[in-house]
Amino acid sequence: MSSIVVSLRAVSKAIGGDTVLNGVDLEIGFGQVILVRGKSGVGKTTLAKIVALLLKPDKGDVVFLSKRVNDLAWDALADLRLRYIGYIDQLCKLMPNITAFENIELPLKILGIPKRERIERVHEVASLLNIKEKLLRYPNELSGGERQRVAIARALVKKPRVVVADEPFAHLDDETMRTVLEYVKQLAKHNSMAVLITTTDLYTPLDVDEEFVLESGVLRKKS
Ligand SMILES: Nc1ncnc2c1ncn2[C@@H]1O[C@H](COP(=O)(O)OP(=O)(O)OP(=O)(O)O)[C@@H](O)[C@H]1O
Ligand SMILES: [Mg+2]
Repeated sequence: MSSIVVSLRAVSKAIGGDTVLNGVDLEIGFGQVILVRGKSGVGKTTLAKIVALLLKPDKGDVVFLSKRVNDLAWDALADLRLRYIGYIDQLCKLMPNITAFENIELPLKILGIPKRERIERVHEVASLLNIKEKLLRYPNELSGGERQRVAIARALVKKPRVVVADEPFAHLDDETMRTVLEYVKQLAKHNSMAVLITTTDLYTPLDVDEEFVLESGVLRKKS
């Protein structure tokens, strides 16, 4: 089997008549953590959504677990997402009417994982992200950074093949950011996850496997 989990080949996407991505190539391998840097509005969320199979390209191919997925119907893509992809939304959207615990537990429930295992897994990930004390709170009772960590926990709890984290560090202080990144890297190595992280931060050095910069629709590798 290929060591590549997900790849984009010559992917282009226009939004509202403007070309946002123009011939983007990207490969993410098992256990690899890659970072895409780019200023606000350059298309990071568009790229993240294409990798997470939430958006289809206009041109080019998306290959997921050795299969071209461009032509799959939306319900087939939703099924792949449920099983294999953890997406951390830039806005950290959580379900407002259920607790942090229930938000993190939700994907496990949908996957039919038994209650005892669900409880164990939620506590494990919550403890690593330092939100164990906040699990009974509702999203509007959490700080921005806590919400972000709940959203990260919800994406990671099902141990997906691919994690797409769209600006996951936006509300975190430097120390928390590095702790979360270390945890994600360990998970990636141990569970052979492919991880894509985006950031508007063009400069702060971060210890990842590969870095890219997105600018004017073009993704180039940062040396
Ligand atoms: N629904 C939409 N309708 C029209 N234009 C859109 C829409 N969504 C995004 N865009 C435009 O597409 C471009 C890329 O947006 P995208 O959200 O991918 O950027 P980004 O790099 O994630 O920005 P940020 O760092 O601010 O989140 C922007 O110019 C944006 O204004
Ligand atoms: Mg964005």
